[in-house]
Amino acid sequence: TGFFTFDPGYVSTASCSSNITYMDGENGILEYRGYPIEQLAKHSSYLETCYLLFYGELPDTKQLEDFETNINNHNMVHEALKSFYNGFRRDAHPMAIMMGVTGALSAFYHYNMDIHNKAHRERAMLRLIAKMPTIAAWSFRHAKGLPFIYPDSSLSYSENFLYMMFGVPTTPYVANPSHVKALDVLMILHADHEQNASTSTVRLSGSSDANPFAAVAAGVATLWGPAHGGANEAVIRMLQDIIDSGKPLEDFVARAKDPEDKFRLMGFGHRVYKAYDPRARIVHEICHDILRELPEDSPHKAMLDTAMKLEEVALSDDYFKSRNLYPNVDFYSGVIFLAMDIPLNMFTVMFAMARTIGWISQWNEMREDEQSRIGRPRQLYMGEATRDYVDISKR
Ligand code: CMC
Repeated sequence: TGFFTFDPGYVSTASCSSNITYMDGENGILEYRGYPIEQLAKHSSYLETCYLLFYGELPDTKQLEDFETNINNHNMVHEALKSFYNGFRRDAHPMAIMMGVTGALSAFYHYNMDIHNKAHRERAMLRLIAKMPTIAAWSFRHAKGLPFIYPDSSLSYSENFLYMMFGVPTTPYVANPSHVKALDVLMILHADHEQNASTSTVRLSGSSDANPFAAVAAGVATLWGPAHGGANEAVIRMLQDIIDSGKPLEDFVARAKDPEDKFRLMGFGHRVYKAYDPRARIVHEICHDILRELPEDSPHKAMLDTAMKLEEVALSDDYFKSRNLYPNVDFYSGVIFLAMDIPLNMFTVMFAMARTIGWISQWNEMREDEQSRIGRPRQLYMGEATRDYVDISKR
């Protein structure tokens, strides 16, 4: 039946070729379409980065304006989609809602969705990028029992999201400009990360010619896990446990090192980065900027303090050094979200919203490739050899 390699967890298998994102894990380098992440975080906007990821080049002024207008034209959702929210219990995890409602988009946009048609693929991307903030903010409003707020196209992408999260119909909403800026940069940092678990899932499900909204819902499902996007939520729970316990940090580091103990330092380690995650460096800086505005006795400051001390203790330990375990993007991002009053269970939703452009750009790249085939991994069968059926009376 031919020769194939055994590679659980795809540690050494390139599943595709791609022109989108470059990662050098040994040297902590991340680039989108050749542009270093540090430069994009400093100079670009999330929507400009979306354009870059999808189309391959930075837009000129007219192209960016047209793109932003197009996004604004698509930022509402079908009114019938609102009734989906009512089907969820109010204590439903917002990621469960995201998965369901994103998947439901496939029921609304199955017409004019020929995956071999470039314009159709482009429209799927515009719809997703435009609607994700609305869908995400509404998953929070549903849990809170607050009225849904419609998108305001006069606001920037990130400001509009904060408005739909925190606005109230009776009072004009004014977003904190440093929160808007920080959110936009966080969105850029999370926009793509080549063939991670959720992106590979989107590619694999899309490889069967599935509807792209359904494929992206599969990506949302995969991102939810604490080993992937769910880590940002898990980090804050861990830091809170550390603070509440009153125990020294060394106790937690010792537990993380104990092979008998399932406890891990959340927000530490990465499959590809064997150096400091370049995104974590930037997130750490923003964290300081945001927390500077808070009063000295803010619990968020205590959280950042604990995180920094934990990093110090872990990085001075041989276990972490020898395994190249450094803080990843999720280690500090949660502290920023907390300072913005984003509730804990929304953190992974924020990640999903930002990563949608990566998922759909990678899906589009796969669909553009005429040679692409359905993804079909093989296995190493370790089960029983052939045997005869035994009648139930004889078992
Ligand atoms: N705390 C303690 N030990 C760890 C950790 C950690 N966070 N991460 C890895 N190790 C150890 C692990 O026990 C193993 O040790 P040994 O060689 O003695 O068995 C060694 O380091 C290699 O770990 P691995 O699990 O084989 O590595 P992996 O590449 O399969 O897993 C990871 C990568 C990110 C899932 C893992 O580092 C982890 O679980 N980290 C915590 C969760 C987390 O922060 N995830 C977010 C990733 S970045 C955001 C994203 O892309 O979604």
